[in-house]
Amino acid sequence: MKKNPVITIDGPSGAGKSTVARLLAARLGIRYLDSGAIYRAVAYVLDKNGVPPEDGAELREALAKLTIHMEDAFITVNGKDVTDKIRTPYVSAIASKYSSLPVVRQSLLMIQRQQAGESGLVAEGRDMGTVIFPDADVKFYLIANDKVRAERRWKELREKGQEVELDFIMGQIQKRDNSDSSRKTAPLKAAEDSVIFDTSELNIQEVIEGLAEIIRSRTG
Ligand code: DC
Repeated sequence: MKKNPVITIDGPSGAGKSTVARLLAARLGIRYLDSGAIYRAVAYVLDKNGVPPEDGAELREALAKLTIHMEDAFITVNGKDVTDKIRTPYVSAIASKYSSLPVVRQSLLMIQRQQAGESGLVAEGRDMGTVIFPDADVKFYLIANDKVRAERRWKELREKGQEVELDFIMGQIQKRDNSDSSRKTAPLKAAEDSVIFDTSELNIQEVIEGLAEIIRSRTG
């Protein structure tokens, strides 16, 4: 395999991107970027500081002052560790709102690119292959049917002790897909040169094997 490859994994929420990207990065011995965590963390902090998701002086000022640090699975914004605060349905909903604003996306572009460094990266999100890493070595677009995606998110939340109705999650996922794919800036869509990979019927190990095989065949 090529040394230090940049691999992108995009797709709708619940398609298995996060777990797959983390395990794939570990297997390849390279870093992992969870770009959704950046949008979540920034949305959490802006909302907490009373900055509404509207382009204007207040938001621009707040964005200019943001400092973000990522270290393994931890993320700090303005020096505060927010790792444990950002995986709630409320933060999912506000992250979708802030992330639809071009000014927010622009201000988070460089921090995402910087994560690649010299050592290769598995980058996971919505626009990794289309906008952030257009020259990535291999681009994947992971999909799964709505029911499977809702069940995965439901299980994830239950494991964290959050009881939420499956129907509610399904509604939320569809709403979020709609707003993520219909926004003007960097909408959720497969890059033309991406490999579309359906995870509905596969377990995690099977997905990792499948992707690793494609990476091997493409990067020699
Ligand atoms: O992947 P996630 O559910 O943690 O993402 C949270 C939100 O951030 C989701 O609404 C989409 C948005 N997002 C984005 O717009 N671009 C990315 N690269 C990653 C996430």
